[in-house]
Amino acid sequence: MTEDPSAWWRNGVLYQLYPRSFADSNGDGVGDLVGITQHLDHMQWLGVRGFWSSPITPSANFDWGYDVKDYTSVDADLGTLEDAESMITAATARGLKVILDLVPNHTSTEHPWFLESRSSRDNPKRDWYVWEDAKPDGSLPNNWQSSFIGPAWRLDELTGQYYMSNFLRQQADLNWWNQEVRDEFERILRFWFDRGVAGFRIDVAHMLIKDRELRDNPPATEDDQLVEQLRGQRQQYNSNRPEVHEIYRRWREIADSYDPPRLLLGETPVWKPSILASYYGEGDELDLAFNFILLESPFEADAMHQVIETTLAALPRGCQAVWAGGNHDVPRFATRWGGNSPARARAAMLMLMTLPGTPFLFAGDEILMQDTALTQEQLRDPLGVKLYPMPVGRDPERTPMQWSGEPGAGFTEPGVEPWLPFGDLSVNVADQRDDPHSALSLTRDLIALRSELPDLHLGGYSRFDGPEGWWCYRRGEQALIAINLSEVHGVLEAVSGQVRIGTQRSRDGEALVGKLALEPDEAVIVRLEL
Ligand code: GLC
Repeated sequence: MTEDPSAWWRNGVLYQLYPRSFADSNGDGVGDLVGITQHLDHMQWLGVRGFWSSPITPSANFDWGYDVKDYTSVDADLGTLEDAESMITAATARGLKVILDLVPNHTSTEHPWFLESRSSRDNPKRDWYVWEDAKPDGSLPNNWQSSFIGPAWRLDELTGQYYMSNFLRQQADLNWWNQEVRDEFERILRFWFDRGVAGFRIDVAHMLIKDRELRDNPPATEDDQLVEQLRGQRQQYNSNRPEVHEIYRRWREIADSYDPPRLLLGETPVWKPSILASYYGEGDELDLAFNFILLESPFEADAMHQVIETTLAALPRGCQAVWAGGNHDVPRFATRWGGNSPARARAAMLMLMTLPGTPFLFAGDEILMQDTALTQEQLRDPLGVKLYPMPVGRDPERTPMQWSGEPGAGFTEPGVEPWLPFGDLSVNVADQRDDPHSALSLTRDLIALRSELPDLHLGGYSRFDGPEGWWCYRRGEQALIAINLSEVHGVLEAVSGQVRIGTQRSRDGEALVGKLALEPDEAVIVRLEL
């Protein structure tokens, strides 16, 4: 039987890397595409089936890749188009799929499209962006707030109109009501698909289309999410608009016209499972939509169980969830969920690798890298710089991959200053690789077990009663996951089987006869005896 062409993302574990911070091949302190190619063996050894790279296209680097100047070439800091092609070929040869990042919501204000658009009110590209006059009383076109704090409208003196900009002022939102914009992005999708790219992660997938009449957002209420309360408004008219779905249906047709079909994966920071589910359409839109509800949840049994259960219940038939413990925008899970407890961080890893759906690791998670504390001078993320000392900047999770404990960390040449400082180099790949008790070995073994046991990648999810504060769930018939998230030692009765992997590795293989005891922050995968 030939393998289902979607098996790599349905059954496998995937990986995200931030190209500036992964591996520097030319000693300039910035990671690059050749560096990624040189480290494909790590991903293959780890057992992931593919990786998503944050943007590799030319950027004005106000938002480090997410302010794109050209969608069909490669940023000079990262390499050349030939380097990208070699990376894709080399990855594919190792059975690794390459997912690129597409930023369709906005471009850099240095993109030639925007330069044309702003040049005059009657430029043919004027309508490619969202331009609007001030209201008659001179106030802003509407009350929309930027995701990066402050009004979403920026005055362009040249023509006296405002352009909409949901992030930095150097990022201008495209007008997705314009057919030429849509045609252009279809061309961009094909450009990369034709070069062997296995899929796209779609940046800010929930915001592309804005209300045509640019209506004011209503005030936030106490029922709204904290971020909306902080912003003072519910993002009703600038996000999750019904018309966005038509775009994804069209993109899905394009993705499915390739052999094998290409993957569409959305960045969908929405807070209701029903809204998240809408991005899958009727199985005819995005293949996967990132679940930010779990990502933002505390590592607590009831809270997380509820997210899993409600998400699975909301997804259309045949559609699959996708989970991550971190990415380039949020603190690392070893810090956030693990706190100061390495045992708890290991339990979080075991949890992530046993969830029903596709798990993503963010490069460095596999060794349980922590966030790096930075001084004000070391900050590079505009959000962190602008809002300092508020801890909202994203540099702590973006520091270079810690390949070794040597000078340069195996990331760059010794003596070269990396673009962001190194974290704690006692946590590194080289030291953990041959240690069977390391976090890296745990991660690799969990990935291998997930693929070995069909229950772990295909099986249903159901909660299993356990002692107070524990999170126990069954996957399929025979896999039981038990995580003691309480502060005390406890015992789960009536369990017989074998521990396949425990976060305390000395327990691997232990036979359980009628009970399972766990220390606080300890977790195990048990093969139940039925
Ligand atoms: C997404 C990216 C984030 C970026 C923002 C604007 O949320 O993940 O890094 O700053 O979009 O492009």
